[in-house]
Amino acid sequence: MQARLAAWSAIPQLLREPPRFGDIFIFAKQKEPNMSFLDKIAAAVAPAASDESRAEARRKVEALSHGEEWLRMIVEQHKQIEALFREAKASSGPEQRRAALDRLAIELTGHANAEEAVVYPIVSEDSGKTHAGMAYEEHAMTKVQLSKLERMDPSSKEWAEKLEHVQSAVQQHIYQEENSWLPDLVENTSPAGKALLNARYREEYERYRGKAR
Ligand SMILES: [Fe+2]
Ligand SMILES: [Fe+2]
Repeated sequence: MQARLAAWSAIPQLLREPPRFGDIFIFAKQKEPNMSFLDKIAAAVAPAASDESRAEARRKVEALSHGEEWLRMIVEQHKQIEALFREAKASSGPEQRRAALDRLAIELTGHANAEEAVVYPIVSEDSGKTHAGMAYEEHAMTKVQLSKLERMDPSSKEWAEKLEHVQSAVQQHIYQEENSWLPDLVENTSPAGKALLNARYREEYERYRGKAR
């Protein structure tokens, strides 16, 4: 995949086979001036959800979360993650940026761990292995990119650019969850499965993150 996207001659193939989550990071890694052009192609093939679509998905999933404590917690954490991205982007100076990135990474990791342990196995059984596979892959890529950010100079332009790319990718991941994967779970999962989600999601999240709201 990396070689395919790295070559200009591969663009026709890219247009036939839309890029996946990790590919966007591969573009981001490139420092050549053509990176923004490739980014534009990626965006044209797999455009990110608009602000309106994301707001609509949020409204829909919040309506579904009444009586579903596990889902309420997930959506609350999504909002928290979004706020922490905004905070990290607004921070200036290496110390402030490092501290903001720490807070973001802790929340993202706690949330991701709980989804991976409790939610995605049920997504795999009740809504499809493809969705679950994509979700795990997107989390893995986010963790890799966060680790890279932690090792970069927080006062550099590259740090800010990478943070921006991670934010876009996570935003799109959250949209997929709220627009499709989580509503599918509400619809397809048995009462016993939901009881398990309620009991176990909080437990897994708090194991890493401490007492949840
Ligand atoms: Fe997720
Ligand atoms: Fe999530």
